[in-house]
Amino acid sequence: MKQDFLDYIKNTFDFNETEFKNFKEHLEKPLKKSFRINTNKISIDNFKKLVKRNDWELTESNFWKNMFYIDRTTDLKIPLGSTFEHIMWLIYIQEVAASSSPFFMSWDIIDNDQYLILDMSSSPGWKTTQLSEYYPNSLIVANEFDKPRIKQLFTNIERMWCDNIGVTNYDWRFFKSLPELFDKVLLDAPCSGEWTCYKWTDAIKFWNAKNIKSIAKLQFWLLESALITCKVWWEIVFSTCTLNKIENEWVLKKFYKKYWNIIETIKIDNEETKRLWPHTDKTWWFFITKIRKIASVDKASKQMPEPKNTIEKLSSRETKTVLRFLEENFDLDIKNYFFYKHNSEIYISKHNFWEYFNKLFFFKVWVKIWELTDIFTPCFNLWVIFDLQKNVYNIDETSEKINSEIDRYLKAYDLENKTALKKGYIAIKYKNTPAWLAEIQGENIKNLLPTKYARK
Ligand SMILES: C[S@@+](CC[C@H](N)C(=O)[O-])C[C@H]1O[C@@H](n2cnc3c(N)ncnc32)[C@H](O)[C@@H]1O
Repeated sequence: MKQDFLDYIKNTFDFNETEFKNFKEHLEKPLKKSFRINTNKISIDNFKKLVKRNDWELTESNFWKNMFYIDRTTDLKIPLGSTFEHIMWLIYIQEVAASSSPFFMSWDIIDNDQYLILDMSSSPGWKTTQLSEYYPNSLIVANEFDKPRIKQLFTNIERMWCDNIGVTNYDWRFFKSLPELFDKVLLDAPCSGEWTCYKWTDAIKFWNAKNIKSIAKLQFWLLESALITCKVWWEIVFSTCTLNKIENEWVLKKFYKKYWNIIETIKIDNEETKRLWPHTDKTWWFFITKIRKIASVDKASKQMPEPKNTIEKLSSRETKTVLRFLEENFDLDIKNYFFYKHNSEIYISKHNFWEYFNKLFFFKVWVKIWELTDIFTPCFNLWVIFDLQKNVYNIDETSEKINSEIDRYLKAYDLENKTALKKGYIAIKYKNTPAWLAEIQGENIKNLLPTKYARK
């Protein structure tokens, strides 16, 4: 660990020797594993029943009822990412501190009102997918500036089956041209990455005040953009996973100085800002603050950029094909859903994105259910949230040992067709928990699970 960093922490936060020793010791300890239960796929109670079989001990975290620490005693040879629960998308491995910004945005309440929420720098999507759950009737705009990082965001949104997220790929400057559009803005800002010292002990060797100052400047600009695009009387949550005050307090000090008549603080636990510490909060470190916008910013550019959306409505023929498929195969009559088309993909959502298409260019909206190639091909995760009764094949083995039916299924191998059906699609369940769609081909059940999601 770089000595400059340790000295900085000790001096800046006035630690006494005992506290500092405690802090340092915690940096050397691995963080306790934690995850969120994907309540779009399984209830917390059913999940707890399910994991009893492998003796998982779950401890609720201080943040959010969906978020648990896990202790394992029996299946330690299987990495958490290869467990049935992870491959079936029942959990999302996430550090507890990283759940705190959505937690404080919503005060841990599922808010059923409709908002337009911007997650300004969203990849890999820890907080975006969490916002989707806290605000189920809102539209979450997940922006990520760094194109290569968007892929991971797509995967995580798909894994969590969040159907109220649209992904955009804008630079921070863009949001200045959309004054007072969003009700809530989360700026989980790019930062100097001090936290990575948990992963690679020498990552902090590049830690120096000059680097940090340039990142602090970027954070200030992003915050300005967040302020402009936020509606008056609404709020911004600003968070970073750094401890130093150059990125956090100093950025805010400059911000409050410039916008003193435009913003006010919303206190968290009676404090203007909140910091999480490894040695007291049993998380990695984190910084968070909430800001209310109380007046317009004069300087906002009023010029609206031309949206170039490529997302279209389905033709009535395409809509009929989708609906007929669902009805014929699964007796599913879908009402109150919207369908969208982008390139060769079809998405479904309970949410109406159309009104925003003249303002924002969405890369994708969720959830993808279909590929439009020469023929219609339903996507493997098409029915995840629908409780199907017809054409369901339940794998009901007690063991997940190597080469068992469920092990083969999770490895994306085809299965032997033990059903009376000879063609069509079938919904797979394991222990009555929905898995995915599969295609019956005579004696074979063709596994549609993409190998990128499969057990290695
Ligand atoms: C702390 S990470 C976000 C983590 C994410 N909110 C989550 O919870 O999964 C910061 C993000 O800011 C993005 N970023 C970097 N430079 C940026 C810029 N100039 N404008 C907007 N976003 C930027 C990075 O690509 C990164 O994805």
